[in-house]
Amino acid sequence: MPTGMSTTSTDNTTGNTTDNSGDKSGDHNGDHSADEIRTTVPGLSESDSQTLVSLLQERLVAAIDLQLTLKHIHWNVVGMNFIAIHEMLDPQVDAVRVQSDEIAERISTLGGEPRGTPGAVIEIRSWDDYEIDRAPTVQHLVALDKVYTGVITDHRAAVDKVGELDPVSEDLLIGHLRDLELFQWFVRAHLKDATGDVVHRQTFDKS
Ligand SMILES: [Fe+2]
Repeated sequence: MPTGMSTTSTDNTTGNTTDNSGDKSGDHNGDHSADEIRTTVPGLSESDSQTLVSLLQERLVAAIDLQLTLKHIHWNVVGMNFIAIHEMLDPQVDAVRVQSDEIAERISTLGGEPRGTPGAVIEIRSWDDYEIDRAPTVQHLVALDKVYTGVITDHRAAVDKVGELDPVSEDLLIGHLRDLELFQWFVRAHLKDATGDVVHRQTFDKS
């Protein structure tokens, strides 16, 4: 809380004014230097907020990278079932774009500075760029399945860490995870036979 900000509130039913700070450390008595700006949400420490911002920044980079990769596939996919794959991807792009906006705004809400430039994505991400340009549908779907596996795995790990500090950020990421897992099912459904086995995974999988 910025130095000098009121820590009192008025009960709407009684009109009584009470001290809400619950702060035994004396922060509001001027222990912090005048130029230290404290802008996180009430009830979260600055330290925990910084940890959350760092975790959310990684998820922001993943969401930006994913939405660009999905559009890249949308433009470059060819062959059988072209229109099905081409049109399946745009709603995923839109959803992931919203996710990146929500993550970035959560970072700002916690007092952080979201980094969303192409340079920031390249600097922060820990994975290689999507390698395939124009290619048949199955080749792109096999590659995209792997992309979703990476994003979802990292997202789940972030949910666990974020959940130890902030249920609001955890709730946000869980909602995103639900959509990402749905989208991976859409992709995998194209690669399976009627028994549920993934029959095309080996077709273009060089790893
Ligand atoms: Fe398009």
